[in-house]
Amino acid sequence: MVILITGGAGFIGSSLADKLLSAGNRLLVIDNLNNYYDLKLKKQNIVSNLGNPDYTFYEGDICDKELTARIFAANEIDYVVHLASLSGVRHSFKCPFEYLKNNIVGTRNLLEQMRNNKVGKIVFASSSSVYGECNAEKFREDAGIESPVSPYAVSKLACERILRAYSKSYGISAICLRLFSVYGPRQRPDLVVRKFVNLINEDKPVPVYGNGKTVRDYTYIDDIVSGICAAINYDKSLYEVINLGAGKPISLEEVIDTIEKVLGKKAKRQNLPMQRGDVYKTASDITKAYKLLNYEPKISFEDGIRNFIQWEEAQQNS
Ligand SMILES: NC(=O)c1ccc[n+]([C@@H]2O[C@H](COP(=O)([O-])OP(=O)(O)OC[C@H]3O[C@@H](n4cnc5c(N)ncnc54)[C@H](O)[C@@H]3O)[C@@H](O)[C@H]2O)c1
Repeated sequence: MVILITGGAGFIGSSLADKLLSAGNRLLVIDNLNNYYDLKLKKQNIVSNLGNPDYTFYEGDICDKELTARIFAANEIDYVVHLASLSGVRHSFKCPFEYLKNNIVGTRNLLEQMRNNKVGKIVFASSSSVYGECNAEKFREDAGIESPVSPYAVSKLACERILRAYSKSYGISAICLRLFSVYGPRQRPDLVVRKFVNLINEDKPVPVYGNGKTVRDYTYIDDIVSGICAAINYDKSLYEVINLGAGKPISLEEVIDTIEKVLGKKAKRQNLPMQRGDVYKTASDITKAYKLLNYEPKISFEDGIRNFIQWEEAQQNS
């Protein structure tokens, strides 16, 4: 298959690219290499694939109509995996318009290119943040409880709706995967796990927002990549929204306890109030992912933390 991955130099996109390449696909990757975090990390993510004849990298923006039109015209694309996004929840309050423009206009432009070039399938990385302050024990896709509380979350929910409209109007198959707190090798440095491991290693204070009681459904990168691959092969319906989580929510306190245990080192915990845009809890119900995609997360949180720390140490020694 010829697959276009947007945002393919990032954490999830580059991990997915490695997996899809090893499965024999031809990949086109577009990424504008924005400076939301250290560019060196994104370049490291893609460097090993740059000489591969089955891998073409385009440095550019998904909002750029001329460039995207050229990419679609020059290649017979079977499938689009759309991961490009401005993604920080807290950061989205600093520049909300940028988030809405980048994420919503970019998605619509991609869909227009798909329509013009008769590319009929897309998987989109949505987010657990579309659920907002949800009181349910576990968040189900069909509960109608979306109440986003940040510009980032609003942009993701808007994209889901645009995808649904294109699916209905033009017969494009669209699978929106609501990803829950992804962690593991190559993780974004602004996110819990990588950020905390680094702070603890450097003996710096660890900011424990919400006094450690907030809960997240941390999901290991390999499980997310398997879920995305299964979604690419799903063809039973035209539009679906599917949670991809671990199904085992963990408190921030437990995250730090686990990192301390694996590192063999104590954190300097600094209790702080919750931040704007933070929600008390995310918790995925993954019944639908299991039914439709045969998705079953395999990596326990402690094993995932161990893998991440081993990877991080290898990076530092290389
Ligand atoms: N990491 C998580 O925990 C998580 C959770 C829920 C959803 N998601 C979603 O998954 C996707 C991937 O997340 P990630 O953690 O790998 O983030 P990331 O920032 O590492 O990767 C996103 C990539 O998209 C690129 N990009 C952004 N805007 C672009 C544009 N207009 N044109 C071209 N490239 C652009 C960036 O340069 C970056 O390399 C995002 O859509 C994100 O919102 C991630």
